[in-house]
Amino acid sequence: MSVTIQAVQSFQCISDARHRTLITTLVQKLHDYVQEVQLTETEWLQAIQFLTQTGQLCHEQRQEYILLSDVLGISMLVDEINHQKNEIQTPSTVFGPFFVENMPVRQYADSIVMEDEELSIPLLIKGKISNLRGEAIANAYVDVWQTADNGMYSGQDPEQQIDNLRGVFVSQGNGAYAIKSILPVSYQIPSDGTVGKLLSYAKRTFWRPAHIHFKIVAEGYQSLVTHIFLENDKYLENDAVFGVKDRLIVRHQLKQPDDQSKTLYGLDRDYYLIEYDFVLSES
Ligand code: BEZ
Ligand code: FE
Repeated sequence: MSVTIQAVQSFQCISDARHRTLITTLVQKLHDYVQEVQLTETEWLQAIQFLTQTGQLCHEQRQEYILLSDVLGISMLVDEINHQKNEIQTPSTVFGPFFVENMPVRQYADSIVMEDEELSIPLLIKGKISNLRGEAIANAYVDVWQTADNGMYSGQDPEQQIDNLRGVFVSQGNGAYAIKSILPVSYQIPSDGTVGKLLSYAKRTFWRPAHIHFKIVAEGYQSLVTHIFLENDKYLENDAVFGVKDRLIVRHQLKQPDDQSKTLYGLDRDYYLIEYDFVLSES
């Protein structure tokens, strides 16, 4: 009996059917791969060393394995299999490693900029959260996070206080949300680990197009993890982690302040506006 058949059969006693399928199929496919490429002992050892170093880099603030999954396109494939079952709901995309839990709950139209607010043109992001029938979803928790002008997230950059460019907003009775911020910038994913070595070796880009992350949680609805991307970013066609979807690309327009912008959003100077509605599916 071949070693492949023996190895696959050795996991047949796992009683949970789904776990049995996951493990036996994995073993079978790994054996198929080794056969197909006729793996040498040196290559096998290099692969073990790569995975060992990847694991050694991981700690609470650094998830090199998630990054590896992202650059291999696995994260987006899992996303594709598990979400977007219809054309109306807002598409999801990669979660990424820079989410921080328990950020401050902010009021409608509050700013998430905690530092140097006067230096940049303000950005207003506003819209509605609704369900597939177009009905407003009130009390949805909208977690938002983005990079600063230097292309770094708080938590990654010791110079930024942890709640800078982060916050949780709660949608209003009519589903409306409004967030003040600054424009995000395109940035490079961490390149100082095993994933960085792999991308350099493959002459691949480290860049992600400018985006703002959202995680939206509402009772009775599937949670949505997504981004909005700025149109015309030069990396939209070449995202290092394959996260761009057409329906997530948004326009930002430069606006002059008027009575409404002053009273509703506290904006009394030129500002950028992004309008984006999120649609959630029932759970
Ligand atoms: C991010 O968008 O924050 C991200 C996603 C995947 C890998 C690295 C960063
Ligand atoms: Fe990001």
